[in-house]
Parts: sequence; structure tokens; C-alpha cells
Amino acid sequence: MPIPTQPSTARATRASDVVRAARREPVSRTPVWFMRQAGRSLPEYRRVREGVPMLESCMRPDLVTEITLQPVRRHGVDAAIFFSDIVVPLKAVGIDLDIVPGVGPVVADPIRSVRDLDRLPELTPDHVPYVTEAVRMLVDELGATPLIGFAGAPFTLASYLVEGGPSKNHVKTKALMHGDPQLWAALCERLAQISGEYLRVQAEAGASVVQLFDSWVGALSRADYVEHVQRHSTAALAAVADLDVPRIHFGVGTGELLDLMGAAGAEVVGVDYRVSLTDATRRLGPEFAVQGNLDPALLFAPWPALERRVREIVEEGRRAPGHIFNLGHGVLPEVDADVLTRVTELVHEVSAR
Ligand code: CP3
Repeated sequence: MPIPTQPSTARATRASDVVRAARREPVSRTPVWFMRQAGRSLPEYRRVREGVPMLESCMRPDLVTEITLQPVRRHGVDAAIFFSDIVVPLKAVGIDLDIVPGVGPVVADPIRSVRDLDRLPELTPDHVPYVTEAVRMLVDELGATPLIGFAGAPFTLASYLVEGGPSKNHVKTKALMHGDPQLWAALCERLAQISGEYLRVQAEAGASVVQLFDSWVGALSRADYVEHVQRHSTAALAAVADLDVPRIHFGVGTGELLDLMGAAGAEVVGVDYRVSLTDATRRLGPEFAVQGNLDPALLFAPWPALERRVREIVEEGRRAPGHIFNLGHGVLPEVDADVLTRVTELVHEVSAR
């Protein structure tokens, strides 16, 4: 008889500080991890990635496992984030795209018409067997340390698909949203299915927490977010609502949207460095934990200035209903990896109960 997969609550990660903070339960110390902790800031990452294109590395369970574990070993962070990219599920369903070094995701034929939607079929677990395999391997290796699964949110994915690549002003995306709201809605419905299913694949294979990245949604007003985006992010997050896996919802420049992002169905709202955790908590109310929010640029400041800021954030976080320490956005590739280790140690030391 095969042993049934255990629900995540039954596993050792249920008692981890990351899961407990996400659930607004008492923690032994403030948990910490860093967005983009697995990446170019680590010499061991640069070594294993040598000669292997980004997307290929995401499809090789041996590499995904090694890269995901690297920052956990080196920094002693409280969670691993699955090494992949938000465009991997789009590539998996057949979109012709590449991740260009120093640029980001580039889409060969951008989506601009109803007919283009034919290129976006539903995602099924069979599209991403290498994800299921890598998550299983990782969960075995990680033991009591939680693995965070993730996906891109419909707006941020749509922005890459409509623009054809990274964009500063999201001009074509906004023109489509306002000029053809029906096509926009149809596109986002498909992306919500893909996002939601991608989260579900990771959670079912053993991820203990998931994060929905809506990195670029801070470009929108509240009104546009409510009318054109929120329900699609709600649908993506709802795909794992029955799995007892806390959900983190993150975006950059989203201070004006925090309450709406929480209401989309997350337990934790990610806060960037432009809004203090105290203000974020005031905007969100007592039902949400917060994650963040050290300015990634401060990792380049002299230690006394960095230390002061880390201590302030930990202090603010202690007054929040729950707090997971992180950066306000991802680790920059040029950062000195030893500084990340030192920040991890400091957070643990000053927050020990
Ligand atoms: O450590 C981790 O956070 C896990 C891995 C991860 C990557 N991408 C690996 C990656 C995660 C969570 C992502 C998500 C992602 N990808 C987002 C959302 C997070 C955010 O930063 O807001 C976005 C917007 C993308 C799209 C994307 N992919 C960009 C903008 C880039 C950078 C391009 C560059 O070269 O500067 C990528 C490529 C990418 N994804 C890299 C990594 C480690 C760099 C590629 C390399 O190492 O060669």
C-alpha cells in the first residue's frame, strides 16, 4: 500500500516559525528569508549555473534542488524558496519565451488579440513534472525547514505577455486593459488558472507556504486594481485555499493596495520598503501578518546604518499581528553574501524570545 501524502499541518514544518508567523501564532524568534536569496549574489550559484541557461536550469530537478538549498546552508535562513521563475509555467504550456541575462523574460510573439489566447491552454501537472519531482526532493532534504512555492500573479504575467518583455510604464498592458476589457478579462482568467494550478502543484508536492508575486501591480490605481485585477488574483489564491498552506501576496510600490491585496485571499501581505510595517499593519488590520521590508539597497550601507534599520524593522514587526522578516524586494546580484548572513543572524539574535 502506498503511504498517503501527509497534509502540511502534520509535517514538521507546521511548527516552524515561518508557518507560525504566517498564522499569527507566537514564534521562538522572528523568521527571516530573502526574495531572490538563490541567485547571483552567491558564488556557489554562479558556479553551478555556468553554461546552463536560466530556463533549462529550472527544468532540471538536480539543479533546482541544489540551488534552492544553497542559501539555506549558507545563511541559515528560516525558509527555502523554490528555484524557478514566474514565466516557467507559461513556457511549460507552450509560450515561446526566453529569460535573457540582464534583461528578464522576453516573449517572441506578444499577446494582443483573442486568437492569441489559443496559445495559452490550461496548465495541468503533466506540463511540469520536473517541478513535482524537485519539490519532493527538496522537502525530503529540508526536513523541518519550510519550502515556499510561488507563482506570478495574473497582472504581472500579463504584463510580460502583452508587452513582450520587461516594461517600465506598462503602456500596452494598460491600453489593452482599458481598450478591450473583455480580452483583458479573458487573458487574466487563463493566467489565474495557470498561476493557481502552478501553486497547487507545488503545495501538493510538499511546499508549506506559497507566495503570489504581483511585482508590477503597484503601477495601478486602486480603482483599476478593483475593476480589472483583484478578482483574478483572488482566483489564483483560491486554487490552494483548501490545502492548509499559508499564502503570501507581494507586490512592489503597492502601499495604496495593501488592504485590497489582503482581501484577495492571503494570510500574509508583503510590504515593500516605501511603507513602514507600522503603517502597513494599520492599513491591513489585525487579520493579516506582514512580510518585509528592508530596502535591498541598504545591504550596501555601512554596517551600523544597516544594523539600526534591521533592529527597527524587527521592533515594528513585533507589534504586528505576525511578521516574517524579508527585503522590500529581491536581493541585488552585486550584494556581498556575507552581509545577508549577518542580517539573518542579527534578526534571530534581537528577536529571540
Ligand atoms: O531566490 C528566489 O527568489 C527564487 C527564484 C526566483 C527567480 N525569479 C529566479 C531568477 C523567483 C521567486 C523569481 C520570480 C520572478 N521572476 C519575479 C517576481 C519577483 C520580483 O523580482 O519581483 C519576476 C518579476 C521575474 C521575472 C524575471 N526573471 C526577472 C525580472 C529576471 C532578472 C533578469 C536579470 O538577469 O537581471 C529574471 C531572471 C531570474 N529569475 C534570475 C533568477 C536567479 C536571474 C537569471 C540568472 O541567474 O542568470
